[in-house]
Amino acid sequence: MLPPLPRWFAHRGGGSLAPENTLAGIRLAARLGYRAVEFDVMLSADGTPILIHDETLERTTNGVGHVCETPDSILFALDAGHGERIPRFAEAAALCREYGLLANVEIKPAAGYEHQTAEVVACQARTLWQGALMMPLISSFSLTAVEIARDLVPEIPRGLLFDRVPPNWLLEVERLQAVTLHCNARHVDDEVLSQARGRGIPILCYTVNAPDQAHDLFARGVSAVFTDRIDLFAVEPSA
Ligand code: G3P
Ligand code: MG
Repeated sequence: MLPPLPRWFAHRGGGSLAPENTLAGIRLAARLGYRAVEFDVMLSADGTPILIHDETLERTTNGVGHVCETPDSILFALDAGHGERIPRFAEAAALCREYGLLANVEIKPAAGYEHQTAEVVACQARTLWQGALMMPLISSFSLTAVEIARDLVPEIPRGLLFDRVPPNWLLEVERLQAVTLHCNARHVDDEVLSQARGRGIPILCYTVNAPDQAHDLFARGVSAVFTDRIDLFAVEPSA
């Protein structure tokens, strides 16, 4: 079952105020009052699920090369910004549980690693959220990954993630028993919004960094947005 959906998700951990996909980002989002975070999970060469967006290390760390070819011994010594380390999925999950954050776990497989990544992330998610009152929400651009998650951990809710929502989206939602639809805010379509609303399927849009755009999307019926600008949006601050 889908947990209650906050309107705001800190994108890539903590958005742009902290290094993306880091524990510092998740902590900052929680401190600013966010109740939900989205992060990307990929496998290292050792098969360890870690938080990172790109298939290569250059943009977000001081490393070089492909994530899927880099062993943990090298990955976990890298600087992911301001001295932060690349987090293990397990560390991010523990932090989300500690802070009571809804985690949107985006399975982000390197090309050719869809099956392996989905299997590891789905199985770890089951263990990491065992006994939790609030399950995470698993999503992926890879329908194969979502299908594997459905088969391995049907009890964890799933969202379908698209850039532009394809015409057959509803068939895919039904086939994969997904509970949410995630899409690029630039391409959100009123026809899709109306169909989804009629079926009680929340639409979540990325990446929304301007308040006017967020308010417009909410007015059109979008349920939640992913933002990098966690400083701009007024959510209740917490201690
Ligand atoms: O999950 C929503 C959003 O994060 C998808 O885009 O490229 O930022 O992972 P990306
Ligand atoms: Mg993402």
